[in-house]
Amino acid sequence: MNEQIEKELIQKAMEMTKLSYAPYSGYHVGAALLATNGVIYTGCNIENASYGATNCAERTAFFKAVSEGVKDFEAIAIVGAPADEAAENTFSEYAYPCGICRQVMQEFCKKDFRIIVAKSMEDYQKYTLSELLPFGFGGIQ
Ligand code: THU
Repeated sequence: MNEQIEKELIQKAMEMTKLSYAPYSGYHVGAALLATNGVIYTGCNIENASYGATNCAERTAFFKAVSEGVKDFEAIAIVGAPADEAAENTFSEYAYPCGICRQVMQEFCKKDFRIIVAKSMEDYQKYTLSELLPFGFGGIQ
């Protein structure tokens, strides 16, 4: 995967934090998921007064894609920050995917699926799914 597409994913993930619905945690997360067909599916976290009904940004992106018939993926970029920081595109810490989102990745992605966590378009880390979820359970890939 080239650097240009990595940066595009990070930029789209940052844009998605502006659509985050997070009145309870105040933590805005954005994700941009690259499908093998070249389409980028975006997502934000969507919270709920019944906290357990909250959906993470990563799963929003995956479920948008799968609900449109797409199940082959290359990479995802994730950013997250408190609302005021996110509004200024300041992401002072890497936002790693939660365990539930890693399991959703396991369902649809190969071991070498790329997970990018970013503070900016210049400052980011890349992992494979098997690094972040070793010995993962199940999955169709
Ligand atoms: N969140 C995500 O969107 N992705 C993750 O991987 C971790 C957590 C959201 C859920 C909730 O809206 C907020 O961050 C605080 O937990």
